[in-house]
Amino acid sequence: MSVAFRSIMSTAASCSLLLLLVVVVVLSSPAYGCDRCVRRSKATYQASSLAMNDGSCGYGSLAASFSGGFLAAASPALYRGGVGCGACFQVRCTDSELCSGAGARVVVTGRARTANRTTLVLSGAAYAAMARAGAAARLREQRVVDVEYKRVPCVYANRNLSIRVEERSRAPSGLSIRFLYQGGQTDIVAVDVATVESSNWRFMTRDHGPAWSTRQAPAGPLQFRLVVTGGYDGKWVWADKEVLPRRWEAGRVYDTGVQIADVAQEGCYPCDTQEWQ
Ligand SMILES: *[C@@H]1O[C@H](CO)[C@@H](O)[C@H](O)[C@H]1NC(C)=O
Ligand SMILES: *[C@@H]1O[C@H](CO)[C@@H](O)[C@H](O)[C@H]1NC(C)=O
Repeated sequence: MSVAFRSIMSTAASCSLLLLLVVVVVLSSPAYGCDRCVRRSKATYQASSLAMNDGSCGYGSLAASFSGGFLAAASPALYRGGVGCGACFQVRCTDSELCSGAGARVVVTGRARTANRTTLVLSGAAYAAMARAGAAARLREQRVVDVEYKRVPCVYANRNLSIRVEERSRAPSGLSIRFLYQGGQTDIVAVDVATVESSNWRFMTRDHGPAWSTRQAPAGPLQFRLVVTGGYDGKWVWADKEVLPRRWEAGRVYDTGVQIADVAQEGCYPCDTQEWQ
């Protein structure tokens, strides 16, 4: 081996070591990477779960199957123009006489229109679930409570990420879909569709929240790939088996055969490392 070549090798090695160090520092610094940023706000509730199901994320009556009906409408900061649809939060009220330390885990299904700086409007069941045993009625008497909340991974036992073909679809090329049962703690930021075993991907455009569409869908059967991200990281998720059959039908829900379990980081300090219980 020549000397010149050896010096290139060692430069390359020290460069990648430096890169590795930078990556390790970024990932381990608490001020940059946290998956449990705790925030304080106020929460209220809406007794009618019908109103929640009719939320602006467009899940309709399917929302009742999320998280045991523990649903929430979120303020603009959490709703994020619809990107926050389907995100899961653990929320607990801070009055320790009335409220348990674990609180309730809720899924965002709509946008909150509230006064009084309430960040979350919970379904009646979710609000009551924050109470200590026997204290639900007293908690309900307080229309608004102080809460702490943090984003947590969504967990759907026995469900994969699924795609509902929306009624506005016009086969074969007009395809509108809505994602359901999105696990983990990330946002879907890009969606592509292709015929199975083809690499001719067509991008889809976000219509609103979990709804994406294209007017140039290829002929089925169809596979999908998504970019999920949140905070500092991103990755491809491939649903590269037949997700939609050749003759896909509007109104049906199709299993993608994959589930997302990744947890994205956001920036806050200090980072909450405790399980709430
Ligand atoms: C906001 O606060 C006022 C006064 O405290 C109360 O009358 C009103 O009902 C509250 N609104 C909501 C949406 O909670
Ligand atoms: C989820 O996908 C896996 C792998 O494709 C499959 O074996 C499993 O049956 C699916 N789960 C459900 C609940 O459909």
